[in-house]
Amino acid sequence: MPTALPLLIFAGSTRQQSLNRRLARASATIARDAGASVTLLELSDFDIPLYHADLPSTPADVIRLKEVLWQHPAWIICSPEYNGSYTALLKNTIDWASCPVPAHADWQDGIKPLRGKVVGLLSASPGAMGGRRSQSHLASLLINLECWLAPKAFALGQANSAFDAQGALVQQTDRDRVRAVVNQVLWAAGRLHADRIGAAP
Ligand SMILES: Cc1cc2nc3c(=O)[nH]c(=O)nc-3n(C[C@H](O)[C@H](O)[C@H](O)COP(=O)(O)O)c2cc1C
Repeated sequence: MPTALPLLIFAGSTRQQSLNRRLARASATIARDAGASVTLLELSDFDIPLYHADLPSTPADVIRLKEVLWQHPAWIICSPEYNGSYTALLKNTIDWASCPVPAHADWQDGIKPLRGKVVGLLSASPGAMGGRRSQSHLASLLINLECWLAPKAFALGQANSAFDAQGALVQQTDRDRVRAVVNQVLWAAGRLHADRIGAAP
C-alpha cells in the first residue's frame, strides 16, 4: 500500500452525535494504523452558505475548501442517508467545490478540485441498510465530476450500537470492511497519482 499518499476523510453531517462523523473518525484511525497520512475534515469548520448563483463573490471558505480537496488525491466520504439519498450538506458542499471562480488564478476550472480523485464511499445509519442508497446517488454525482469510485464500499447498519465508548467499531467484520475500502482507495490512488507519492499534502 502506498503509505505516503494524503487521504482525506469527511462526513456529510455536522451533527454533534453524528454516526457518520463517528465512522469518519474510526476510519481515520484504521487508515492511520495502516500507515496512511490522513486529514480528517469537519465540514462545520467551513463557513459556506447555501449556494446561490446571485451571490456577488465566492466565499473565502469555498476557496479554502477547494484547496484542501485539491491537495488530497484519495478521499473517503461517510454519507448519511436522508430519504434514500445523500444530505443537502454534501450536495451544497460539492456544488460549491465544483463552481468556477471567474478571474481567479487557480480556480477558473470548476472541477479542478474534484477531477481524478479516487473516492471510497462509506455510510452509517440506524437502519438495517446502513444508508446504502445514499451511496448510489452520491456515486453518480461524483462520476459526473470525473472522480474514480472504488468498487468496494461499506454501509454500516444498526450504527447506533456499532461503536464503543471510545468511538471504535466494535465488530471485527466492520473494521475489516472499512479497512478493505481504505486499502482499495489507497491502492488505486497510488497508481493514478504515482507522481504525488511522497509529496506534501
Ligand atoms: C430527513 C431525514 C430523512 C432520513 N431518511 C433516512 C433514510 O432514507 N434511510 C435511513 O437509513 N435513514 C434515514 N434517516 C435517518 C438517518 O440515517 C439518521 O438520522 C442518521 O443518524 C443521520 O446521520 P448522522 O448520524 O451522521 O447525522 C433520515 C433522517 C432524516 C432527518
